[in-house]
Amino acid sequence: LESTVTLNNGVQMPQVGLGVWKVNNTGASQSVQWAIKHGYKAIDTAKQYDNEKGVGLGLKKALADNNMKREDIFLTTKIFNGDQGYDSTLEQFKGQLKRLQTDYVDLLLIHWPVDGTYLETWRALEKIYHDGYARAIGISNFDITKMKDILLNASVKPAVNQMEFNPLCQEEDIKAFCDKHNIYLEAWSPLGGGAVLGDTRLKKIADKYNKSVAQVILRWDLQRGIITIPKSVHEARIIQNADIYDFELDDKDVAEINGFDEDKRSIWYGGFFWHGNPDGYKDEVDVWDD
Ligand code: A2P
Repeated sequence: LESTVTLNNGVQMPQVGLGVWKVNNTGASQSVQWAIKHGYKAIDTAKQYDNEKGVGLGLKKALADNNMKREDIFLTTKIFNGDQGYDSTLEQFKGQLKRLQTDYVDLLLIHWPVDGTYLETWRALEKIYHDGYARAIGISNFDITKMKDILLNASVKPAVNQMEFNPLCQEEDIKAFCDKHNIYLEAWSPLGGGAVLGDTRLKKIADKYNKSVAQVILRWDLQRGIITIPKSVHEARIIQNADIYDFELDDKDVAEINGFDEDKRSIWYGGFFWHGNPDGYKDEVDVWDD
């Protein structure tokens, strides 16, 4: 894909990639192969998605089929909440590389800020980075309080913070903090898990450009300087979501979408956290200090 950003350690990262959350191994392998065939240069997975094996297989096949090298693709994975802690992170990460069939990842993130552990986990990421097994390291779902904590204690600054971000959930304070500290905001579920696609205001803008709502949202991400990783398991949509370089939203439309923010985080991960409580969170406050 056409645009890349330069992370704070000088590493180049494609601004659009394929997300594979909630996709099984078979689906992930297929989606990764379609994406790479159609020009995607970045793939985002996590141990928690339980599809690293499928991603690794799809990546291997796609590289062979398209006569590409591992270095041509930017691969992200994340440290599972239950694996956090210094020794455990180092140990579990080895298994992740094995499942992904690779010697290194391009970006390694702490998936969620597990209280009492994320600083130790960050130290493990710094070691992995210094040892050359991750070209960049970052965080995900960290609010400002926890980002400050990381910045105070880190010797390597996070390159990105991956957050839920879409027109209805813009995390303005976190975006401003990231901008100030030269940390890229990366959007997970940029289409709101599909829920934002029916928005009639966005449809009106999309019609004006002869594009789909998904394309308008992803184009808006690019113009806002955000890294974005839309998920789809359909080839036509995978193609469509990358076809966002032949138009530009005018300033008025960008400003209009900026005005759609409702601070609307998805209900789903609320339930995931503090009801199932798989990873030691007590409640919402435990995750979001701000
Ligand atoms: P599917 O995988 O069946 O194509 P997000 O990236 O925000 O999590 O959104 C992913 C959701 O949006 C999935 O349900 C996906 O469905 C759907 N989706 C992805 N791209 C498109 C598109 N271009 N048009 C319509 N729905 C899409």
